[in-house]
Amino acid sequence: MKKQLASLNIYSPGKTAEEIQRDLNIKSEMMKLSSNENVYGPSPEVEKTLQAAIQNIHEYPDAAGTDLKQAISRFYQVPSEAVLLGAGLDEVIQMLSRAILKPGDEIVTSEQTFVQYSHHAVIEDCTIVTAPLTNGKFDLKALLGQVTDKTALVWLCNPNNPTGNYFSEEELTAFLREVGDVPVVLDEAYAEYVTAENYPDSLKLRDQFENIIILRTFSKAYGLASLRIGYAISSDEWTDLWHRVKLPFNVTTLSLKAAEAALADQDYLKRIVTQNATERARYYASEFKNHLLPSETNFVFIQVDDASQLNDFLLRKGIIARPVPGGVRLTIGTRDQNDVIIEVLNEYFKEEA
Ligand SMILES: Cc1ncc(COP(=O)(O)O)c(C=O)c1O
Repeated sequence: MKKQLASLNIYSPGKTAEEIQRDLNIKSEMMKLSSNENVYGPSPEVEKTLQAAIQNIHEYPDAAGTDLKQAISRFYQVPSEAVLLGAGLDEVIQMLSRAILKPGDEIVTSEQTFVQYSHHAVIEDCTIVTAPLTNGKFDLKALLGQVTDKTALVWLCNPNNPTGNYFSEEELTAFLREVGDVPVVLDEAYAEYVTAENYPDSLKLRDQFENIIILRTFSKAYGLASLRIGYAISSDEWTDLWHRVKLPFNVTTLSLKAAEAALADQDYLKRIVTQNATERARYYASEFKNHLLPSETNFVFIQVDDASQLNDFLLRKGIIARPVPGGVRLTIGTRDQNDVIIEVLNEYFKEEA
């Protein structure tokens, strides 16, 4: 076995909503707000498409994912050869790591970010070099100081999971000008939710900086988390490399078709994003707003000294969130859910005061 695997944690899915409900004897319906899924579900067009696509599940999928790649290519005005499809960004992150990292290389990323960047670096026997977050966002100046000639890959998560804050186009451009030609991954899993005007237009920056690899997913705002489909957009040269490590049929026909339908329904996406922004604003207008890091996503990070105490309090009220170091990450719910949650959080912080 690879000796470095011994240090890895196995992903723990935690208890199901039903198990928690039973164990804590909760009578009300549980709100599962721990994985930043789209609480409204996907476009209704997706269901229709899936019903038609199910006729062909005895056949292997299109290994090249041609139709979806062309749809992404038209949507973003990028060559379809620049698109790599994966079974969620989880698989894309694995493919990039597998293609690029050699034992002894270093990756540079932030503390408290999406764990899969480091997970795959460990599997590839690499060293992880980090800088702290500043106010819940990647500190690009500090990260630049960590990049050396040993750095094989830089992972930037924008907005960051689990904290929700983002860095601007100006900050990113300054970083890219200095960093040289090391590949820089921009994980933009939550990009569709961002409403801040100075959020980087990474697709435009791609023309200027050939070393950037942009990651997007259908799991979040497009509401297809269970279908497992995400993609990278990079320079066409890189894509050839990715395809050498890609499993031939890594993405299913149902995922390909559903993603195409979801991408085509931009009116629905806009409604989701607007609704999420409206609900998000309610948290920032609440009595406990000072406990929140700024968020441009569909979740908020509630800063507390004792994350497990707040998490247990929420659980007893039927709210499943995610405790992380320094706080609790909570997916923004529907209007009705947020009515309840905001009351519950008011109560918690009043008791704490
Ligand atoms: C920042 C970030 N990147 C990547 C992923 C993986 O997404 P998926 O594999 O569902 O596309 C997630 C999921 O939570 C995420 O938060």
